[in-house]
Amino acid sequence: MKLLLSVLKRTRKAAVCASRQRCLSSCARGGLILLRDEALIVGSSPELVQRLCSQVEVRTGFITEEEEGALLRELEPGLKKKRYEFDHWDDAIHGYRETERVRWEAACEEVLNRVRSVAFPAGSPLLGPVHILDLDKTGYIKAHVDSVKFCGNTIAGLSLLSDSIMRLVKQDAASEWLDLLLPRRSLYILRDEARYNFTHEILKDEESVFNGQRVPRLRRISVICRNVPD
Ligand code: OGA
Ligand code: MN
Repeated sequence: MKLLLSVLKRTRKAAVCASRQRCLSSCARGGLILLRDEALIVGSSPELVQRLCSQVEVRTGFITEEEEGALLRELEPGLKKKRYEFDHWDDAIHGYRETERVRWEAACEEVLNRVRSVAFPAGSPLLGPVHILDLDKTGYIKAHVDSVKFCGNTIAGLSLLSDSIMRLVKQDAASEWLDLLLPRRSLYILRDEARYNFTHEILKDEESVFNGQRVPRLRRISVICRNVPD
């Protein structure tokens, strides 16, 4: 049980996002279909967005409502037995409970295989257990980089129950940043430079504004696959 969770030691870096220059077109929400994935990503400059676009992906509607329901049915009983952690202030995550899972029932396994096949090169060895992180409505993830010792070059996560905003900030240049809108039931993928040289964080509800648009953050469960380092 402690296997994966104990190795997911997150190195923490304060990321101050000072001057923000919104550069891409605004995102159409509220029932409108997002036609271009670029609308899910805004950044400090068009050059940065361009440079990272092969390393950062957000795929909307990656799972159906039924598949989200199947994942929740599988995960809720175990999660409900745990209490949300609020008091570890120096930890990278606030207001969360987490678990990991190796065996899944068929419908869930099929979803995870789809995640694996789009996010990782064929044959790339993955961390066996899938990581599940349940953020309370008041919970959030501070800026951090996943441990390079235990996680490889790719992180792929499904978002259940809530939209959210993931912010990436360049470690040695806080003025370089990307905001990703992660709609409920989407898949995000971070690779290479975006994974190693940028911190990532999930904004708290009060700060959850994407490109000028408020994005209410409710309870959110993420289902995260990682590969192992070379
Ligand atoms: C983590 C993390 C992101 C997410 O657990 O290290 O960054 O989508 N999670 O929950
Ligand atoms: Mn992380």
